Amino acid sequence: MRITLTTLQKMAQEGSRIAMLTCYDASFAAVLEEAGVDSLLVGDSLGNVLQGHESTLPVTLRDMVYHTQCVARGSKRAFIVGDMSFGSFQVSPEETLRNAVELMAAGAHMVKIEGGRPMLETIEFLTDRGIPVCGHLGLTPQSVHALGGYRVQGRGEDAGQLLLREAKQLEQAGAGMIVLEAIPAALAREVTAAITVPTIGIGAGVECSGQVLVLHDMLDIFPGKKARFVKNFMRDAGSVQGAIAAYVREVKAKTFPGPEHSY
Ligand code: KIV
Repeated sequence: MRITLTTLQKMAQEGSRIAMLTCYDASFAAVLEEAGVDSLLVGDSLGNVLQGHESTLPVTLRDMVYHTQCVARGSKRAFIVGDMSFGSFQVSPEETLRNAVELMAAGAHMVKIEGGRPMLETIEFLTDRGIPVCGHLGLTPQSVHALGGYRVQGRGEDAGQLLLREAKQLEQAGAGMIVLEAIPAALAREVTAAITVPTIGIGAGVECSGQVLVLHDMLDIFPGKKARFVKNFMRDAGSVQGAIAAYVREVKAKTFPGPEHSY
C-alpha cells in the first residue's frame, strides 16, 4: 500500500523514524523501496550529482518534471516529494501554481519549496489549492550565493529563534513537512518539539522525525569533499542494496546520525 503524508505524520507522532533518500530514476526507486525507504525526494541536488553543476541553480522545472516522472514509474510504495526548481516558485502565484501542478502531474505527492518567511504566502496559496508543500529551512542550497557558501545555519540565539519562528509560521501556512538542513542538533530538537508536522533532518541531528541524505553521497559515488553530516554507507556494505538497507536500519534505530555527523 502507498505511504501517504498521513502515514508519515502518524509515524512522526508515534516517534517512529522516517527514512528518506533522494532518488532520480526508476531503477533506484525500486531498489530504495525494496530496502524500506519510506519517502523518495526527487531533489534538485540532481543538478550536482547527475548534471555536474556546481550548484542547484541551473536546474530547470523541465529537469524536475522529467526525473519525477522517472521515479514515479519505478515506485509503488514510497511517498514522493518533488523539488520546485530555483525560479519556479519566485514568480506570480498563478505561475507558481502551474509549475507545482506540473510536478504533481509528473507523479510527485508533495512539492518542496526552499525558504522561510518570504515563502509563507506561496505555501498558503498552494496548500489552499490542494497541493501539499514541504518546507525547507536552514541551509537552503538555492540560496548558496546569498548565504556566502554552504554553511551551517541557525547558530546563535537570534538565528536559532528566527528559524524556530519560521518553522512555526511554515506549519501555520500549511506546510505538511519541513526539511531542516545543516543546523545545530539542539535547535532541530526544539523545532521538532514545537511543531506537529514531521521534520526531516540532513545535518540536523538525530531528534528529527526522519532523515534524508543525497543518494550519491551516502553511496560514496559523488567525488569531492563531503559535508560533516554525510556517512559513507558503502564502506561496510557488500552492495548498493546492503548500503541502503543499513541506512534504513540506522535511521529507524536512531543510531544515524551520530554526534560525529551533527552540529
Ligand atoms: O535537493 C536535495 O537533495 C535536497 C536535500 C539536500 C534535502 O533538497
